[in-house]
Amino acid sequence: MTKIISINKKIKNFKKTINISGDKSLSIRWVLFSSIAEGASTAKNLLMSEDVVAAIEAIKKLGIKVIIKKNKCKIFGEGIHGYKFKKNLVLNAQNSGTLGRLILGLLVDSPYEIKLTGDKSLSKRDFKRISDPLSKFGPKFKLHNKKFLPLKIKGSKNLKPINYLENKGSAQCKSAIILAGMKANGQTKIKARKSRNHTELLAKYLNLPIKVKNKKNYDFIKINKVKKIKKLDYEIPSDISSSAFFVVLTALTPNSKLIIKNVNVNPSRVGIITILKKMGVNIKLKNLKKYKGEKNADLEIKSPKMLKAINCPTKLNSEAIDEFLVIFLVAAKAEGISYFKNLSELNQKESPRLEWGEKILNNMGIRTITTNNSIKIFGNPNLQINKKIIIKKYLKDHRVFMTSVIAALAFGGKWEIHDKDSINSSFPTFLNIIKLLKND
Ligand code: S3P
Repeated sequence: MTKIISINKKIKNFKKTINISGDKSLSIRWVLFSSIAEGASTAKNLLMSEDVVAAIEAIKKLGIKVIIKKNKCKIFGEGIHGYKFKKNLVLNAQNSGTLGRLILGLLVDSPYEIKLTGDKSLSKRDFKRISDPLSKFGPKFKLHNKKFLPLKIKGSKNLKPINYLENKGSAQCKSAIILAGMKANGQTKIKARKSRNHTELLAKYLNLPIKVKNKKNYDFIKINKVKKIKKLDYEIPSDISSSAFFVVLTALTPNSKLIIKNVNVNPSRVGIITILKKMGVNIKLKNLKKYKGEKNADLEIKSPKMLKAINCPTKLNSEAIDEFLVIFLVAAKAEGISYFKNLSELNQKESPRLEWGEKILNNMGIRTITTNNSIKIFGNPNLQINKKIIIKKYLKDHRVFMTSVIAALAFGGKWEIHDKDSINSSFPTFLNIIKLLKND
């Protein structure tokens, strides 16, 4: 089966209501929390993508029973100390930074050395950022070239609580420290630069001994040793990061309207909405509901007549961190020069995304000026691509693939986009939804 897709035609305007698969961050967190809860937890609408399946495989290797039937997943947690650690255990986080980092927080008490591996993309990403804080609890780490996977972790019996300043704005690091803090003897204190807060909200919902104070740029988190976690039945809402591709496609396709049902709109994730509204896109949140500490709503998007450039406030960076590639496409069509800065974390993702953003835009004929942490995009409201564009060798970064598909459908040209299986890590049904919008 070919793994290349060709797109030679712009999409026609559409008016549709769609459902998108479950949120990846919440799906992985649900799997991990359920694995240390007591009893059977059930999830509906769990994202069945490779990243989440890797999380399920990992907890199974740690002795946890999982049953998947149709749209439901049941995890039989054995309690906070219920993992069956074995000698020579190898866990594979595949493509998932979230799984790779978070699970380490739960391995800090393993009496045996555990090996953690990942795919080619994950093996290029920084794991020192997580082994450094976790080793302060007591475990010992060995990393490939002192920074990378594969790594080995040997836990400690006597886990000391830590005080830690998380200064990168990494929710993965913050979450892994919270999970390790749940096993340590005493109170762990984290001063964390703002990032998505699903872990804290789940811990609060489960009545775990966690306290969070939200200040302007940082969150102050205190977590104590956890004795027991009750089972967690959960209906996973749709993923705003996956929705983002269709929000942008609507914004770029004149006379279009889209409703996306029941999307997680946690305030730490809605940067794309704030940014696109500032650029002139009409987006409304409807049927806003609270759900187990989170907020979910239907998104209604209407394409605007004109898009304005943005000097993007850096305080929105963390809230939109996974959406920048596709936001850059909106800047490509906007009137004026858009400026996105302080984005060095973008080059720490599944591929160096700032570099890939620049490559895609330049291929489209859009002028950019980039540094190692910023990009200026010279928008062209009349952009129409007429040439051939090939996208390949991008470390199978799912978001590079999906951004390229959206660009092809919005701006035309003859696109050849390689490695379509990359979508399987976060959004296996992406191309089905494109078909639905095209009325194919
Ligand atoms: C995630 C955190 C972010 C994000 C990733 C998912 C999470 O990564 O980019 O897609 O679920 O905690 P960092 O924590 O590295 O910023």
